[in-house]
Amino acid sequence: MFGLYVALIVLAVCLYFKWSCSYWTRRGNVAGPKPLPIFGNLFEQLTGQKHFGEIFEEMYRAFPEASWVGYYKISNQPGIVVRDLELVREVLTSSFSSFNQNDFHIDETIDPLVAYNPFVQAGDRWKERRNQMTSVFTMNRIRATFPLVQQVAQDFVQFIARTRKMDCHFEAKDAMYDNLSENGTVEANENHIVGHSVTFLSEGFETSSTMMSYLLYELASNPAIQDKVVQELRTVMNESDAQLTEAGLHKLVYMEAAMMETLRMHTPTFTLPRICTKDFELPPQFPTDTKRVTLRSGTSVVIPVYAIHYDPEIYPSPYVFDPERFLEENRQSRPRHAFLGFGEGPRLCLGKLFSH
Ligand code: HEM
Repeated sequence: MFGLYVALIVLAVCLYFKWSCSYWTRRGNVAGPKPLPIFGNLFEQLTGQKHFGEIFEEMYRAFPEASWVGYYKISNQPGIVVRDLELVREVLTSSFSSFNQNDFHIDETIDPLVAYNPFVQAGDRWKERRNQMTSVFTMNRIRATFPLVQQVAQDFVQFIARTRKMDCHFEAKDAMYDNLSENGTVEANENHIVGHSVTFLSEGFETSSTMMSYLLYELASNPAIQDKVVQELRTVMNESDAQLTEAGLHKLVYMEAAMMETLRMHTPTFTLPRICTKDFELPPQFPTDTKRVTLRSGTSVVIPVYAIHYDPEIYPSPYVFDPERFLEENRQSRPRHAFLGFGEGPRLCLGKLFSH
C-alpha cells in the first residue's frame, strides 16, 4: 500500500511539472526555448556552466524577430525576456506602474539593514527609502565630496607608485579597499543610518570598483586609447596648474566615453530583473502576429542588459573597446534604452551622478 502512495505522489509531481512547463503553450503558443522540468531554462546557470548574462543572451539571439520571448525560471515559474527596445522603454519607464518591483526578495525580519536598500523595496516603502537617499545626492552635497575624491585619487597614485616598485601586478580593487577602510569608519547606532550606509557599500562600492578595474584593464589592453585619455587629462590639468578641478572634471569628455564603453562591455548587472505588478497587454510577439498576450501580475520580466550591450545590430563589432561610440554625436544615433549600465526610468541608479 505504501508503495502505491509513493508511486501516486511521484506521478502527481511529474504531471504537475509537465503541466507547469506548458504555461506559455497554453497562453497561446508563445515562442521560447524548451524548458526542463523543475529547472526551467536556468539549468546551466545552476550547474555553473554559463553565467546569467550568457543564458539570457542565448534566448535573445535565438529569436531575432521576436519582441519578447517566453521562458521558465527554476521550478518552472514563467517569465519573459524583453528584446524590443521600445518594450524595454515601456517596462522601465513609461509603464513603470505595471513593473515597479525588482524580482528580488529579502525577509526584513532576517535582514533589516539590507531592507533599507530601495532596490529591494516596492510601492510606498520604495518611494520613502529612495527619497531618503536622494537627499544625499544633491549637486551641492556631491560637490562637497570633491576634496575627498581628490585626496583618494592622490592616495591611489601613491599606492600605484609604491606597488610598482614591489610588483608590477596590482589589483585596482585592493587599492580602493585600502582607501575605504582608512576613511570609511561609520559611527551610528540607528538602523537607518547603518542601513543606508550598507546600501552605499553594496550598491556603490562593488559597482564602482569593478568599473574602474575594467577601465584600467581596457586602457592597458588598448595603448592608443590610453594615450588619448592621458593626453586629454594632461590638457585639462595644464589649464589649472596641474590640479584636477571640478570644472576640469567636466571637460574629460573622452575619459567619460571610455567609462561608458567599459560599462557597456563589463556591465555589473547582467540583467534588470523586474516583476509585473499589474496585468499588462504585451505587443504582438512577432511582426506578423495579430494576437496579443496579457502578462499576468506576478510574472517575472527580464531586461537582458548584457545581450543588448553585445547586440551587433546596436553596437557594431561589440567585442571591440571603442569609446568613440559614447561621444555625444554618436550616442544620438542610438535609442536611449540601448545603454543600461545605470538602468533607466524611475529606478535609475541613485549614484549615477555621483559616479560621473
Ligand atoms: C559605476 C558605478 C555604478 C553603476 C554601474 C551602478 C549601476 C546600477 C544599476 C544598473 C542599477 C539598477 C537600476 C535599475 O534597476 O533600473 C542601480 C541601482 C541603484 N544604485 Fe547604482 N551603480 C553605480 C554606483 C552607485 C553608487 C555610488 C551608489 C550610491 C549609493 C548607487 C546606488 C544605487 C541604488 C540605491 C540603486 C537602487 C535604485 C532603486 O531601485 O530605486 N549606485 N545601480
